[in-house]
Amino acid sequence: MAVQISPSILSADFARLADEAAAVAGVADWLHVDVMDNHFVPNLTLGLPVVESLLKHTTMPVDCHLMITDPDRWAPEYAQAGARNVTIHAEAVHAPVRTLRAIRAAGARAGLAVNPGTAVEPYEDLLPEIDMLLLMTVEPGFGGQHFLDIVLPKLRRARSLVAGHGAAIWLQVDGGVHEETIEQCAEAGADVFVAGSAVFGSADPAGAVRALRAQAERATAHAAWHRSGLMS
Ligand code: DX5
Ligand code: ZN
Repeated sequence: MAVQISPSILSADFARLADEAAAVAGVADWLHVDVMDNHFVPNLTLGLPVVESLLKHTTMPVDCHLMITDPDRWAPEYAQAGARNVTIHAEAVHAPVRTLRAIRAAGARAGLAVNPGTAVEPYEDLLPEIDMLLLMTVEPGFGGQHFLDIVLPKLRRARSLVAGHGAAIWLQVDGGVHEETIEQCAEAGADVFVAGSAVFGSADPAGAVRALRAQAERATAHAAWHRSGLMS
């Protein structure tokens, strides 16, 4: 269960997406793409045609985070287009089992996201249907927001929930993750870290990814959840 870094292109230059992706290729594990529809969140970004184009111009695995009101309709299409992971929001999805299975059937990993105020326990029965749980550490919609540390206890609970099921489910955090907050996230149980402004707001995106990874790896090595996993 290695640390993975997923830079969010929300903070990149949208007119130069292929170049921005190339700046972190070979250094980051994923390219995080925030799809927003101005309904589920008060912001509008990009959709399927842009993701399809980006997929032609990058070798990086694409991690699609769908902040849209109708993920049941759209999520399988992102998977069919070639996104390696597709994450849908628990607050938006109507038929989670069907939609998560459709994502997997199309060959992608299936992710389930929860907003800061949404508990994870009601979704425990869905754990066998998912490969990743995304705990939003800001209210979704914008990059560069302040990290909400009220999510940390939920992250600890999510880590025990996943361990209790013996499942290899990744725990992703997204929002306000940077050099001052990434260690708390790793310590509490996260293993996949989305970082937008901390990477693409930096003059050296690849260097920023390396530094974040080193911090997260250090914190993970000392984390109780990780050490108990090693001993069991
Ligand atoms: C926010 C998006 C995030 C965003 C994170 O709703 O889901 O992926 O890009 O940006 P930072 O890392 O700047 O908070
Ligand atoms: Zn995101």
